[in-house]
Amino acid sequence: MNGPNLNLLGTREPEIYGHETFEEYFNGLKGKFDQELDLYYFQSNHEGAMIDKLHEVGFSYDGILLNAGAYTHTSIGLADAISSIKTPVLEIHISNVHARESFRSHSYLSPKCKGCIVGFGLKGYELGLLSFL
Ligand code: DQA
Repeated sequence: MNGPNLNLLGTREPEIYGHETFEEYFNGLKGKFDQELDLYYFQSNHEGAMIDKLHEVGFSYDGILLNAGAYTHTSIGLADAISSIKTPVLEIHISNVHARESFRSHSYLSPKCKGCIVGFGLKGYELGLLSFL
C-alpha cells in the first residue's frame, strides 16, 4: 500500500525516488513471485481511504507492505489502524528517511510495525515480500 504522492513515482523527484513508475515495478514483482504470493496494490492520497483499506484487508491478508509517504510522520490515525488489525504491517521507505530532513526521522508507524525497510529504493518492497515467505 502506497500513500500520498507515490502515484507520481517515476516523475516525482527522480533523483530521490528513481525513474520507474510503481506500476512497472509492481508488474515485475508479480511476475517474480507468481508461484508463491498473490500480490495486490493499493495507492491513495487520502489518509481515511488508507485507514479504510487497512481495516478491509487487515483481518484476512498475510502481510501488508506500507509506504505511507508523508503520513508516516504525521498520522496517529494510521498508527492506530495498524494497532487495530491482525495482519502484520511492514513499513517501507524508498529513500533513507534518516539521511534527509530531521522531520522525516520520526515515524508514528514504526513502533506498530513488524519491521522497517528504508533506503533501498524500490527494491525495499521486494525485500519486504521476502520476509513474508
Ligand atoms: C517516503 C519518505 C517520506 O518522508 C516522504 O514523505 C515520501 C516518500 C519514501 O518512500 O522515501 O512521500 O515515504
